[in-house]
Amino acid sequence: MNLLLRFLTTFPEIIDSYFSYSLPGKAVRNRVLSYQTIQIRDFTSDKHKTTDDTPFGGGNGMLMKPEPVYSALQEPLKAQSTIVLLTPKGEVFNQNLATELSRSKDITFVCGHYEGIDNRIDLYSHYQISIGDYVIGGGEIASLVITDAIIRLLPGVMGNNDSLLEESFEDDWLEYPQYTKPADFLDIPVPEVLKNGHHAQINAWRKKQSLKWTLLLRSDLMLKHKTLTKEEKKLLKEIRQELIDSINQWIDYDPKP
Ligand code: ADE
Repeated sequence: MNLLLRFLTTFPEIIDSYFSYSLPGKAVRNRVLSYQTIQIRDFTSDKHKTTDDTPFGGGNGMLMKPEPVYSALQEPLKAQSTIVLLTPKGEVFNQNLATELSRSKDITFVCGHYEGIDNRIDLYSHYQISIGDYVIGGGEIASLVITDAIIRLLPGVMGNNDSLLEESFEDDWLEYPQYTKPADFLDIPVPEVLKNGHHAQINAWRKKQSLKWTLLLRSDLMLKHKTLTKEEKKLLKEIRQELIDSINQWIDYDPKP
């Protein structure tokens, strides 16, 4: 059985547009996954199809009413779909969560708008996820960020499954720098080692670059590695020496002729 993604939304066009192109479009055409948009407005009972209302206790903005969202959720709940509520209050999305969700066969994203959804809907979610510590206009874009991370993990979506393993965060190191043709661009040459076809040397260079850039740019990720392999320690010592040499060079640098 392939993955079914359901989107509870008042803006199904945003979702349709995402699935019209590129990898997601291809995944739908190849039946690796299917998706459904569920228009929350269809579950309203008043003539104006109202989905929002003012908050109890006052305050700015509008909240999404619970009844239409609850009614729209009944079918996914009956199908035992994994319910994901998008909210800036949720746990922050990362690669581990993407992997966990990619094992599910049926996911429902609940996309709120305005100032969010009435709190009583929280009870029906299995996950509450934020895509980062900032507030965006609605849950659709957040649900698509998560979708995009999930579907590239599905078998048969990426052309070459090896490329998944080598990318940033797949093994908690940042990805090494990558280059394509031309070999010389803006007077910046591609590192020699990548052109010699010596795979062991290329792999060692790449591993060292991953270590170096994780250390320099995202030292918080270094803490995830409880133990380092012998090879990683050796490479780190080389990096230490290179950084010391480079700093010493600047300390001794004299701009005067
Ligand atoms: N809705 C508004 N901001 C959000 C965020 N950062 N993550 C998920 N849903 C949101």
